[in-house]
Amino acid sequence: MNKSLNILIAASEVVPFAKTGGLADVAGALPKALKKLGHNVIVVMPRYYSIDTAELTLLEGAMGVPMGPMGEFWSGVYEGALPNSEVPIYFIDYETFYGRKGLYEEDGFSYADNDNRFLFLSKAAMQLCKKIGFKPDIIHANDWHTAAMPLLRNTRYAWDETFENAATVLTIHNMQHQGYFFKGGIDVMEIGWEHFNPHELEIHDGLNLLKGGIAHADAVTTVSRKYASEIKTPEFGFGLQEHIKTHAHKLYGILNGVDYEEWSPEVDPMIPANFSVDDMSGKAICKSELQKRFGLPERDDVPLIGFVGRFAEQKGIELIADTIEGLLHLDAQIIMLGTGEKWAEGFFSKVAAQHSDRFASFIGYNNELAHMIEAGSDLFLMPSLFEPCGLNQIYSLSYGTLPIVRATGGLDDTIENYDPHTGSGTGFKFDYPTPDALYHTVRWSVDTWHQNRPHFHAMQREAMYARFDWEQAAKGYETVYFKVLFDRKAKEFLAD
Ligand code: ADP
Ligand code: GLC
Repeated sequence: MNKSLNILIAASEVVPFAKTGGLADVAGALPKALKKLGHNVIVVMPRYYSIDTAELTLLEGAMGVPMGPMGEFWSGVYEGALPNSEVPIYFIDYETFYGRKGLYEEDGFSYADNDNRFLFLSKAAMQLCKKIGFKPDIIHANDWHTAAMPLLRNTRYAWDETFENAATVLTIHNMQHQGYFFKGGIDVMEIGWEHFNPHELEIHDGLNLLKGGIAHADAVTTVSRKYASEIKTPEFGFGLQEHIKTHAHKLYGILNGVDYEEWSPEVDPMIPANFSVDDMSGKAICKSELQKRFGLPERDDVPLIGFVGRFAEQKGIELIADTIEGLLHLDAQIIMLGTGEKWAEGFFSKVAAQHSDRFASFIGYNNELAHMIEAGSDLFLMPSLFEPCGLNQIYSLSYGTLPIVRATGGLDDTIENYDPHTGSGTGFKFDYPTPDALYHTVRWSVDTWHQNRPHFHAMQREAMYARFDWEQAAKGYETVYFKVLFDRKAKEFLAD
């Protein structure tokens, strides 16, 4: 088997071109890390109309994408490269589907044709391989948006020689979103109704794309080990726990990495002052600038607690809201950056207006502020109800900002709880998502900042030395890729 693999990675969002969450960070970083290991990687995503094509090359000739009863759709394809790399990225241009304001929704409403938009992306990625003569060894799909690809490889494209070597991997970044649609998508995929059954795609007489992807992929990965075991339970499986258990033999947990070129206090150009584990003076400047920016009193005698994230149930925002009164009584300041559920946007804005001496919020998406909060805070709040991996708590570690987390998924796998006897640890953890547990853990962290500064500093050092690099993660994927290829070859050999 050739050691250098041809890898096709498809995702609905990729940094720096389009992002709503961590999937984009992963889809932008993993391909580069795989390339560094010596593989030929290409990435495919939609050309949302927010993506400027000035620096991209339009490939010659329109590309046909067969969409079953809807006929063949003709799309343009732009080619670019992931920044600072030679990894090609292809943008599928089809105005009817992607010429809109949002990626998945507008004003809180999902687009009604999301099934066709992403079945189209999945098929276009397959067609693109044919168009450019790329014969993948690995087709790597991400989340429900591209989960149809393992299915397509095994059915619609089973006899297509472009894919004769291809094994498939599906990464689940979030089990909550499964791509549940009207069953007519079977015809759009052109895969045959025999695949509409409870072991593959069917759920409550509709289509569940993630379910079909799990059934058909040669390997399924999740973005932390703990999450890989959690999704076998009703609390985290969102109805697919039994299906996951059926396929547990091909399930792996591979922790995400961090792009330290972007998220390091030594080099970050977006923060007011750089700093390092050996010279933390810049962090104090970052803190006072952050307080100034958010209109909080510039105090160095209280800890500053930051939050960055989607205002979604997953992130524990209801828990924070239910605990807010207690939190406001602590000798600390709190800053929240986020956007999402309307009630939360209103609630946290109101708290900020009423308690402007200790609480501030910014409703919106702002990368610069996210960097400033990571750098200028002493503590980082991430009380997620579930968290497949979570990136912000890992970014926090890099800036010596100690995370307060619920011990779930990637949060549990990346954060070491404080041990008051030894002073070791990188953060503060709690198990049960109750206001009481959250309050006491935040209080514990605030008290540690006030009363045991030597321990706090020791933890900051430990946090800043911790490394979660992409090379390690890419090697994990590489191992899975070789395993699935080997298994496919072995099966073919035994069948002959
Ligand atoms: P998820 O993918 O579930 O949203 P992650 O922690 O994996 O959670 O990734 C979230 C990413 O999105 C991080 O890079 C974080 O900095 C960024 N992010 C989330 N909300 C905002 C915001 N309001 N402004 C800027 N960046 C944000
Ligand atoms: C998802 C998860 C998050 C993870 C990210 C990237 O959006 O919610 O925990 O870090 O994907 O894998």
